[in-house]
Parts: sequence; structure tokens; C-alpha cells
Amino acid sequence: MTEIIDGNAVAESIRADLASEIDRLADAGVRPTLATVLMTDDPASETYVSMKQGDCEEVGIETVDVDIDPEAPAEELYDTIDDLNADDDVDGILVQMPVPEHVDKREVLRRIDPAKDADGFHPENVGRLVAGNPRFIPCTPHGIVKLLDSVGVDPEGKDAVVVGRSDIVGKPMANLLVQKAAGGNATVTVCHSRTADLAAKTRQADILVAAAGVPEMIDGEMLSEGVTVIDVGINRVDADTEKGYELVGDVDFESAKAKASAITPVPGGVGPMTRAMLLWNTVKAAADDAS
Ligand code: GUN
Repeated sequence: MTEIIDGNAVAESIRADLASEIDRLADAGVRPTLATVLMTDDPASETYVSMKQGDCEEVGIETVDVDIDPEAPAEELYDTIDDLNADDDVDGILVQMPVPEHVDKREVLRRIDPAKDADGFHPENVGRLVAGNPRFIPCTPHGIVKLLDSVGVDPEGKDAVVVGRSDIVGKPMANLLVQKAAGGNATVTVCHSRTADLAAKTRQADILVAAAGVPEMIDGEMLSEGVTVIDVGINRVDADTEKGYELVGDVDFESAKAKASAITPVPGGVGPMTRAMLLWNTVKAAADDAS
């Protein structure tokens, strides 16, 4: 039987653990606070940020909500980040991406105080992860480590194949899987759009992480029996539904499920974990600051 990995349930147990930690911090007079900064009119980004704020409220994390006109000069965003860096009441800062074209994204990531970097995207935190001494781990790959653990899949000694090399998922995922620590010790292959014979690589996988953003690009034919499949994709495709679309992953679920020993669904797999690990990073920032 293939195990369907229940991201909602694992995320719920992480939120429960965080709520206890938040209670403990409250006894010490600390109230974790996340600042979200939104510089776009894009409805999807607005929805993501309001969902993140709702998640915070649910576990007892305070939120500071900054909205910047997308037409405003880049300096307005840089100054906002400087102010939040200097504000002792703010533990974590998240600038929702993408930012407008006239804003230098790298400057945004560099500007956030690395001790308040709830996304784990600051170059210092990226460097620490690569150097094997992580502080804030990017939320999606961190959540995937927790999902693997939840189904008793230890990457040690296994062949892990990561499809996708983004800065926020593929690269940090590969680093976590290869690192000399719990949740790592795998032999890792990173595949991307220029990989020759992708299927030959994915068939080697004991653990496959699909994070390329291409709907259903991995199917059962490309997998070996017993693989654990983690599907990071959330792609809207036209469909004969009330909304006119449906959400599918980067993996063709039914054919992959026929091969896999465990697989994440879309939705309800990786997505809830990404949200839970943002709370984790915020609580960690507050706890580190208090100690
Ligand atoms: N936009 C899409 N995903 C993310 C994320 O994880 N963090 C931020 N800051 N922006 C995003």
C-alpha cells in the first residue's frame, strides 16, 4: 500500500509544538512577532500574505502588516526594512516575493537583518546552510525534511534526486539532503531544464523531490518501485471545474502512486508544511533573541 503523506496533519502537530513554545516564551515576557511586507497588487501574493498572517494569529504570533504602493520608489521598501530591523518588537521579517521590477531583489534579501530572516534567504543564512551550520532554513525544504521524518524515511545512504534548482527550494533542498546531519547523509543528484535524460536520473531515486514548476512532468514511468515522492509543484491547469481550473503538482499523482511507497498529494502535502515552517522560523528568531 502506498502511504499518502498527510502534510496537513504533520503541519498541525508542528503548530501544536510551536504553540507550547510560544506559551513558554510568553511566561518569559516574549511575544514572537512577524512583520510581513507586501509591495504588489497581485491578488495571489495578497492572499499568501493574509494566509501567513492568519497562521500566525492562530498560534499566538503577533503580526505587523506593512503595505507599500508598488509604484513607490525602491527606497521606500529599503527604508521600511531598515525600520523593521531596528524595531526590537519585531522578531521576523518577510518581504513577499516577487517585488516590482524597479526594486533590486538581491538588495532586499541582503538588507533584512540575518537574525530576523524568517524566509532564510539572506546570503549569510544561505552560506551557513551550505557550510553545515544552518540558522534559518528556507521553509519549503525544511518542511520536506520534517515530512520525510514523519513517515520514517531517513535519507542516510539513499539516492535522493531533486528536480529543480531554484534558490528557495531546489538548492537548499539538495544542501539539506547531502549535509552531514540528521535529515541528510543522502547521495544527491540535482536535475534541471538542461539535464540530459531526466528519466534515467529520476529512476535512480529512492527519494524524489519534484520542484520544477512544470505540471505533471514526472510520471510513474520515470520512477522505480518503492520511491518516496515529494511533490512541491502547485500548478493551475485549465479544467472542466466550477473555477475553470484545477491544481496539479509536478508529478502525475496516479501513475506515480502506483510505484511509490509514499507520496505527497497536491494540495495537502508540501504546502501546509511551508506555512508551518515560517512560524517555526519566527518562533526561533524570538527564542534566539530572548536567550
Ligand atoms: N513568494 C512565493 N513564495 C515565497 C516565500 O516563501 N517567501 C517570500 N518572501 N515570498 C514568496
